[in-house]
Amino acid sequence: MMDAIVAHREPSTRADFTIDQGWDSYTDEEHAIWRTLFERQEKILAGRACDEFMAGLEGLGVAADGIPDFRRLSDVLMKTTGWQIVAVPGLVPDDIFFEHLANRRFPSTCFIRTRAQLDYLQEPDVFHDIYGHVPLLMNPVFADYMEAYGKGGVKATKLGGLHNLARLYWYTVEFGLMRTPAGMRIYGSGILSSKGESIFSLEDPAPNRLGFDLMRVMQTNYRIDDYQETYFVIDSFEQLFEATGPDFTPYYQDLAERPNLEPGTVLATDRVLHRGTGRG
Ligand SMILES: [Fe+2]
Repeated sequence: MMDAIVAHREPSTRADFTIDQGWDSYTDEEHAIWRTLFERQEKILAGRACDEFMAGLEGLGVAADGIPDFRRLSDVLMKTTGWQIVAVPGLVPDDIFFEHLANRRFPSTCFIRTRAQLDYLQEPDVFHDIYGHVPLLMNPVFADYMEAYGKGGVKATKLGGLHNLARLYWYTVEFGLMRTPAGMRIYGSGILSSKGESIFSLEDPAPNRLGFDLMRVMQTNYRIDDYQETYFVIDSFEQLFEATGPDFTPYYQDLAERPNLEPGTVLATDRVLHRGTGRG
């Protein structure tokens, strides 16, 4: 399926699943699609994205002018937080993904969606990966969290906790919200790279917005085919980093005894910031 939407040719894959981005072979139309997406999100995210994201975008020099060259971004990232971007052809196996993160390498896809897919694409493309994920890697605390996540992933694989840990990534890195003195803000890349969900996640009455609780998050299933029914809200990246600092081994043992919760569930023990009306 991916071949159909890759206009520029991707060179062969290496053992760690990395490829060359092939930046020189992007077409004018592919750069133009980036521009369209960028300009659209720029308008929507003012006052909605967290300050750390906006600062990262600016610090990286990621702009409307076209799909960025990963080599240039890696130079800036390396100097700031010691991260770099590696190009991959699509989703990579979990162990490869964790290994990259644990070594401060962020795997990014290279292809960009077509104009027919501007509003929704189920798999990650370069706009999601670079625009959505990479700016926060400029933030030292978030950068440390991502490395710790990668190391946790390597461990979880051995401990049988991968499905629990995947939910943590989903509800933070991909779909996280943050409470700030200025109001609720977005930091999850799945939201930041989506026009519709940028508004839905903050303003729609339908979804629940619950205070972040590590065990609660790791107990909760998520939806991959629609906007989220529940968002978990952190107070700061420091809170997130500290909550996920301890050894997860006893957590996985505890979680094995608990039922999985459906995405729309609200428990009496939840810290409810907003109880959703649901979409029924
Ligand atoms: Fe992502």
